[in-house]
Amino acid sequence: MMVSTMNGKITDTNDPDIYKWTSKEDKSAFMKYISKSSLIVMGRKTYEAAKNIIRLNKNQRRIVLTKDPHNYISDEVPGQLEFMSKTPKNLVKELNDEGYSQMLLVGGSTTNFQFLQEELVNEIHLTVEPLIFGSGVSFIDEAELKIQLQLKSMKRLNSRGTIVLKYKVLN
Ligand SMILES: NC(=O)c1ccc[n+]([C@@H]2O[C@H](COP(=O)([O-])OP(=O)(O)OC[C@H]3O[C@@H](n4cnc5c(N)ncnc54)[C@H](OP(=O)(O)O)[C@@H]3O)[C@@H](O)[C@H]2O)c1
Repeated sequence: MMVSTMNGKITDTNDPDIYKWTSKEDKSAFMKYISKSSLIVMGRKTYEAAKNIIRLNKNQRRIVLTKDPHNYISDEVPGQLEFMSKTPKNLVKELNDEGYSQMLLVGGSTTNFQFLQEELVNEIHLTVEPLIFGSGVSFIDEAELKIQLQLKSMKRLNSRGTIVLKYKVLN
């Protein structure tokens, strides 16, 4: 689940604070979706950008991928906030074995790319905000990916034209 500009940027240049340019309607839709997710996975840079607004909850497990989990021992809350270094395939297999059947991946682009490349994403929820940045991080890390999608639904969130697109990943 991601929010981007019309030209596919998920951050404005070097500023990791997405709430400076995203709509309040997207933020509230995202928070609502997060509150219903029992398993949330993100990359370390996304964690660093969002940690001040993350509210831990004993019914939700957040996993942050990093090559250096030991750097985050003091942030760790077992069962609620964990830091791991694993390939997406191994992570998904282990979580499946533990009984999870759904996982919400919330970025960023480096992490999205790995899960898409390993064919571990079955749905993409993308909010498109009606604006363009010339530079910034793209929705998916620049690389050779070719993935067919099928639009499942689209919803307009406000009068300016923020749109939520839900796609099924076909291959
Ligand atoms: N607009 C949106 O919806 C949205 C959503 C999320 C994030 N963002 C923005 O995107 C930016 C971050 O995106 P990003 O692509 O630069 O970074 P990212 O994907 O959030 O994090 C990348 C880091 O995650 C770790 N990582 C990823 N896969 C791993 C694996 N398999 N094993 C071990 N570690 C792994 C590595 O951390 P280490 O370097 O610690 O090893 C890697 O450097 C931030 O500015 C954030 O605000 C925007």
